Amino acid sequence: MAFRKSRVLKEDYDYVWENIENKGNIEGSVFLITGIAGFLGFNFANSLCYLAENGIKPRIIIGLDNFILGNPPWIEKLAKEFPFFRFFDYNIAKDELGSIPNVEKADYIVHLASIASPSFYRKYPIETIDANVWGLRKLLDFYRDKKIRSFLFFSSSEIYGDPPVEFIPTPEDYRGNVSSIGPRACYDEAKRLGETLCYFFNKVYSMPIKVVRPFNNYGPGLSVTDKRVVADFASSIKNNEDIVIHSDGSPTRTFCYVSDAISGYFKCLMYDRFDVFNIGIDRPEISIRSLATIYKDAGNELLDYRGSIILEPSKDRDYLAHNPRRRCPDISKARRLLKYDPKVQVYEGVKRYLRYLGEANL
Ligand SMILES: NC(=O)c1ccc[n+]([C@@H]2O[C@H](COP(=O)([O-])OP(=O)(O)OC[C@H]3O[C@@H](n4cnc5c(N)ncnc54)[C@H](O)[C@@H]3O)[C@@H](O)[C@H]2O)c1
Repeated sequence: MAFRKSRVLKEDYDYVWENIENKGNIEGSVFLITGIAGFLGFNFANSLCYLAENGIKPRIIIGLDNFILGNPPWIEKLAKEFPFFRFFDYNIAKDELGSIPNVEKADYIVHLASIASPSFYRKYPIETIDANVWGLRKLLDFYRDKKIRSFLFFSSSEIYGDPPVEFIPTPEDYRGNVSSIGPRACYDEAKRLGETLCYFFNKVYSMPIKVVRPFNNYGPGLSVTDKRVVADFASSIKNNEDIVIHSDGSPTRTFCYVSDAISGYFKCLMYDRFDVFNIGIDRPEISIRSLATIYKDAGNELLDYRGSIILEPSKDRDYLAHNPRRRCPDISKARRLLKYDPKVQVYEGVKRYLRYLGEANL
């Protein structure tokens, strides 16, 4: 199992569960997790199986994915090892939920399904809208008269678009500066409508829904072929190639290591009323060029990496279209209401990710 072989994962999941006060609620519960084959799906599934090994066991984890970006081998291995983890090849936007055994028993629903990498959602724009709008709607319709404990919808920091400087760091009540037309609109606008659906299904049917807006997560479980910048840089280090920046390196982001992010997501899931939370880390806000330097230095420290950083325009001409100049969350609401307190600094997190890639030999 991934976490049995990986010291990094064990430490990460110990850290996650130390942070979750009411994790006892998970004992005997049924989870439905869509988008299980992706980066965050990997961490939900593995952290829950790790928790089970440490005495708090969910009854069933149902993982759904249509494997649009591939079927990673860890899923089958995890299912063999933990019979309560079951996964199904399933398109959330089209297939009938009732055909999946035990879905009606779900206590916790986590709707991750949606391509998150801009390079891939530009390739599958309609499918991206479908997963976030029709897929979400099907889940909400199915569960609106069932007795569930919590429903967590994964929105995105991208619903803010490109905020003006006075809204950096960006609080949840900033309304956004988003284009409804353009290569990113399939993602940004679908997430926005998804949030609206959640808001009204809570209002009209009193469903126990929460919405999270993740800000740039990275770490174990993120495939190096995913084409997000954190994955591209890891791939360059792993293959001992130059780090290539497809912009002038000036856009800024904060980068939230996955153990902090997953702690935040479980806290949202366990929260007891409708709300919307930014989950990320609020400092430091660094340029893509600085991130490249961090990868280079971490690679050098751990693996004697000797590559250089180069600037080269992407062959994908939409690569930079509507790319936000700055992205930094205001997480004071999550700090106050969830006691969310991300701690892993980016240099440390990048080293952990690189160490994990070495351990997993991926
Ligand atoms: N990771 C981040 O930093 C981040 C940032 C903002 C938002 N999010 C959101 O969090 C969620 C998970 O992110 P991730 O990084 O794990 O994404 P990912 O792209 O790694 O994984 C998404 C998974 O969803 C699956 N999927 C897509 N359409 C589907 C469909 N119709 N039916 C079933 N499965 C489908 C894909 O096959 C994939 O395995 C997404 O909704 C994403 O938009 C993540």
